[in-house]
Amino acid sequence: MTRRVAILISGSGSNMVKLVESMTGDHPARPCVVLANSADAKGLERARERGVPTEVVDHRPFKGDRAAFEAALQSTLMAYQPDLICLAGFMRVLTEGFVSRWRGRMLNIHPSLLPKYRGLHTHARALDAGETEHGCTVHEVTPELDDGPILGQARVPVLTGDTPETLAARVLEEEHRLYPAMLRQFVLRDTPSVQTG
Ligand code: GAR
Repeated sequence: MTRRVAILISGSGSNMVKLVESMTGDHPARPCVVLANSADAKGLERARERGVPTEVVDHRPFKGDRAAFEAALQSTLMAYQPDLICLAGFMRVLTEGFVSRWRGRMLNIHPSLLPKYRGLHTHARALDAGETEHGCTVHEVTPELDDGPILGQARVPVLTGDTPETLAARVLEEEHRLYPAMLRQFVLRDTPSVQTG
């Protein structure tokens, strides 16, 4: 059975593009919707260009009422009947209520080698700490921020003269490899093999 994947974004959506492009041929999943929390998210156009339906649930009118925002998110998503959610640069913290509903069915990519550097500004913090290596992590989402079972990590060296921007670019290249690979592995693990003969 082909799994339906909803991808949530807030920005340029480069990880979303890699996920969408990976879900072809014998891949056991297909993208069903790309949803952003702002109509300005650049990734929306990139999703449309690739024939993926898009939705916007703007968090701002909810004025900090996370439960109401998440209720709108949930009902918008359910119209597409997703089996899985991939957070791909979705910059809203989700509450336990929403996360619990999707437990075991929601993945995230985070730009650090978790458990190091949860939260924001991961590249600057790694540089400030004098790290010699840095990277990214794909993990299942649990109610604690940037926590949950780790599915895979990719490492990059920190080079002399790196800035947060140069380091971010090196990590992002690895994100683009890691996330599609981990999604595929996650779905295959979850999909009983076809019996023949
Ligand atoms: C990526 O680096 C992703 O790891 C990060 O946002 C960027 C989104 O880029 N996510 C987080 O920081 C989540 N805490 P993209 O929109 O080009 O995929």
